[in-house]
Amino acid sequence: MVKDIQEKILQLKKEKDCFILAHSYVAKEITEIADSVGDSFQLSVAAKNIPNKMILFCGVHFMAETAKILSPDKKVVLASPYAGCPMAEQFLPEKVISFKEEHPDYAVVSYVNTTAALKCVTDVCVTSASALKVVKNMPEENILFIPDINLGSYVKENCPEKNFVLWNGGCPIHGAMTEKDAIMAKSRHPGAKLLVHPECPPEVCKQAAYIGSTSGIMNYVDNSDDKEFIIGTEISIAELLSYKYPEKNFYPMSKHLICADMKETTLMDVYKALSGTGGLEIKMSEETTKKASRCIEKMIELSK
Ligand code: 13P
Ligand code: SF4
Repeated sequence: MVKDIQEKILQLKKEKDCFILAHSYVAKEITEIADSVGDSFQLSVAAKNIPNKMILFCGVHFMAETAKILSPDKKVVLASPYAGCPMAEQFLPEKVISFKEEHPDYAVVSYVNTTAALKCVTDVCVTSASALKVVKNMPEENILFIPDINLGSYVKENCPEKNFVLWNGGCPIHGAMTEKDAIMAKSRHPGAKLLVHPECPPEVCKQAAYIGSTSGIMNYVDNSDDKEFIIGTEISIAELLSYKYPEKNFYPMSKHLICADMKETTLMDVYKALSGTGGLEIKMSEETTKKASRCIEKMIELSK
């Protein structure tokens, strides 16, 4: 049955001249029919160079917005209208504007997990894969880093030459991990390497053999001879890695590492969005697209 729907989706995709982008955290039956699967950075780069008329995004709202900002002439549709990232709306643009007025010598660095409105008042955007390199390559010394305090702390620790102001936002899933979760997972699997996402709190990161974005964690496994890993990010990554390396063992750091918003999209949502009976088309004014694109283009440039 799943295969039948997947076949229909592939047919519709051809008819509509559509390119499907999917974040690695969405369900496997969706990533199987996507044209490009990756983390936030990989998907932003992919969204910039799509020749098709339509982009269907399987992920959360800010990601589809980012694709629209990068490809304003395309029809961009988010497969599930209800998939949002709670972190993206934690701060209002007005708060950033008044900070900038009080601190004109600070550059605003925003994690890509932000609304288009927030991107309009951001100097440089980052993803977890690009954050450190981008911040190091920026000429500015004083940085306001929003909204993720954990990613901000990770960048601050690895970039001691700059001054940081961090605001207290973050991912409710990765941010809820505790030192105890990491220690317990390590004691259950003493031979396994712990790999964690920098959206986890610093005391969790301290327990890890490696800290990196979703693609960073996957690349680490690709280049490692180890046989066992504890995966400190969304549970789908441990699953994807198990399929890729069936002879190795992957354990999620915690059973609670499940992003309900990333799991919101179903295969039927993809089918309905393509057949024109579902999904949410991303609409944005030309002014917002233009203003918001500057910080993303800057990220791509500074991460080269
Ligand atoms: P990356 O895709 O940058 O690894 O971020 C993970 C995440 O939580 C996306 O919302
Ligand atoms: Fe947002 Fe966290 Fe879910 Fe990513 S994992 S979409 S940051 S809530």
